[in-house]
Amino acid sequence: MLAELTLLTGQNDVAVITINNPPVNALSPGVPEGIAAAFAKIEKEDSVKAVVVIGGGRTFVAGADINEFGKITSGKGMCLDEIKPMLLRVENCSRPVVMAIHGTAFGGGLELAMAGHYRVAVASALVGQPEVKLGLIPGAAGTQRLPRLAGVAKAVEMCAEGNAVKAEEALKSGILDRLIEGDLLAGAIAFANEVADKPAPKTRERNGKLGENADIFAAARETARRKQRNLIAPLAAIDAVEAATKFSFEQGCEEEQKLFTKCLFSDQSKALIHVFFGDREVGKIPDVPKETPVIPVNSVGVVGAGTMGGGIAMVFANVGIPVLLKESDQAALDRGLGNIQKNYGNSVKRGRFTQQFADERLRLIQPTLRYDGFAKVDMVVEAVFEGMALKKEVFAELDGVCKPGAILASNTSTLNIDEIASATSRPQAVIGTHFFSPANVMRLLEIVRGKATGKEVIATCMQLSRKLGKIGVLVGNCMGFVGNRMFGPYRREAQFLVEEGASIEAVDNALYEFGMAMGPLATGDLAGLDVGWRIRKEYRHLQKPGLRQPFTEDRLCELGRFGQKTGAGWYKYDENRKASPDPEVAALIRKWTSEAGIPQRQISSEEIVDRCLYALVNEGARILEEGYALRAVDIDIIYLNGYGFPAYRGGPMWYADTVGLKKVYERIREFQQRHGEWWEPAPLLKGLAEQGKTFAEFHARQGAAA
Ligand code: NAI
Repeated sequence: MLAELTLLTGQNDVAVITINNPPVNALSPGVPEGIAAAFAKIEKEDSVKAVVVIGGGRTFVAGADINEFGKITSGKGMCLDEIKPMLLRVENCSRPVVMAIHGTAFGGGLELAMAGHYRVAVASALVGQPEVKLGLIPGAAGTQRLPRLAGVAKAVEMCAEGNAVKAEEALKSGILDRLIEGDLLAGAIAFANEVADKPAPKTRERNGKLGENADIFAAARETARRKQRNLIAPLAAIDAVEAATKFSFEQGCEEEQKLFTKCLFSDQSKALIHVFFGDREVGKIPDVPKETPVIPVNSVGVVGAGTMGGGIAMVFANVGIPVLLKESDQAALDRGLGNIQKNYGNSVKRGRFTQQFADERLRLIQPTLRYDGFAKVDMVVEAVFEGMALKKEVFAELDGVCKPGAILASNTSTLNIDEIASATSRPQAVIGTHFFSPANVMRLLEIVRGKATGKEVIATCMQLSRKLGKIGVLVGNCMGFVGNRMFGPYRREAQFLVEEGASIEAVDNALYEFGMAMGPLATGDLAGLDVGWRIRKEYRHLQKPGLRQPFTEDRLCELGRFGQKTGAGWYKYDENRKASPDPEVAALIRKWTSEAGIPQRQISSEEIVDRCLYALVNEGARILEEGYALRAVDIDIIYLNGYGFPAYRGGPMWYADTVGLKKVYERIREFQQRHGEWWEPAPLLKGLAEQGKTFAEFHARQGAAA
């Protein structure tokens, strides 16, 4: 096994160790041992003057094996223990060791590279310590060696923020010693020959860049608290780098170990690792296997150039796919194009795109008032007003003009995909692609499967979502699909809490403190309160008589307070859309609730969080049981990418699992006794709570609605 994972060959006097653990040469069990064994052998070979370590295949070592972290926290493995002694062995090698980097040297990969005496890389290589993104810090002396090479400021930034650094920058900051043009191995061997007779510098002994840096640490902590709110790992990473400046290398490593362990066993890290695997898991659809053929999508049509249609056109153009953008009248088309131009202009101003890139993208979007050219496109995304009659009319038109095999997608956020499909002669081609606003920014794409949607169509949309830079999650065709269906109860409880005496700010603050990007009421103001108001009016006849309904938001809408767009909603807004509490609304709510005879009381932050989140979780449990989401993690990924749920809590279902479903169930029962019918516990939640199980352990029936 060792021989397979690492290969030792000689080229004249230079020994070459090739790490072969595809696909990314992770430091899985066996790899550190293999490297250590190769060095042990080299020590015995007098003829070897220098050593080159290189990755086989497409990359150097892309990191530790993330599966191993879970094994450690569940007490099933200690493989990481092999890494640190191996690194010391590398650094103590009596011959110069040159690390040759292509692809990525991330995490454990960079830690390995830094244990070498020299590092060379191709210009396209990336290095980084991204552990913080998994709620961790480097655990194999990365926080101790990096500041010795790159200086304290760069090391703090890399370990606390986790972003990748390009080779050229890594060269400037001292992480790399040379960029290699042409063949990496040949260049690395040439470099090794140059340094073979020189004393090999051990990174752990290079203390020149560790000076007094109190200001750097204070500023980094301030930034971390602001930008990575509530997260413990960035602060731990800063502490660990600071330890490098205060203590010996060995003591610094001990400090790092303590901080690493604290992070590894934290709920935050477990949640972030769950999210890491979840991002991959959602791509797996039991009855749509990987081998399902996909339809090439090289050109698209978008119908409707409003808020969503314009953004969707940009999403396609940004990856080089030409778009026909159809509107129903010239004024709307001009408005839509104007918005797209403004959007690209802003991106250029902010330095996200070059002018040339923006111009090229804009040229890919061809405005039209007719369906001319739609016969040739591979896919159409419809984004006209939300109304069944209009959607059916548009789909019947598309059915008439589009070629056989073209995908007909709707961006509807609430309407029944099967009914839309019934307006066509090809329901197998019809699917929902529910983008989130702003479509060119938000990463989530709910892909809605209708009864007849073809497997190729599903496979194509899932694959396309990745190409578009989105994360596609397959959901079933129910009212509101997954995200919005759950959002309803969440926002209902936020309103009820206000109507029972909590202040608007108290409700929003409690959820913001929990980690949500925004509170539920502020989110309503951002999205536009009128959207829900219109939907509620349309579906009022379906409401159960006698069941308590929130009324505040409807009343605000009746007063023309639609949120940010009208300068007033739950809050009032200045011309820069900065929110401030509005005493007028507070007074109105007091008046309305007194007229309605709702007793007012003090409400704790804990109750606010539990009411809102458990409403979300309870609905999520129903969705899961009914099969509208394939797995609990699918719901989590939807909430993290579309609704501002904090990743370090793992998503609503994971959060509930962390709290313990028994506890969640009991709290919901308590709410049911106090607040009635809305709080009927989902049968799945009840069942899992009684069996002592988690949502993560529940798998929907294969081929269920989703
Ligand atoms: P919008 O009102 O901004 O834009 C709709 C556009 O469709 C208008 O410009 C209108 O002129 C055009 N249109 C109407 N009939 C047409 C036809 N026959 N041919 C071509 N164009 C036509 O609406 P918005 O917000 O962009 O919503 C579009 C769809 O996206 C709706 O189904 C909505 O539910 C959904 N959606 C909206 C989200 C949002 O946050 N606004 C989020 C996710 C989905």
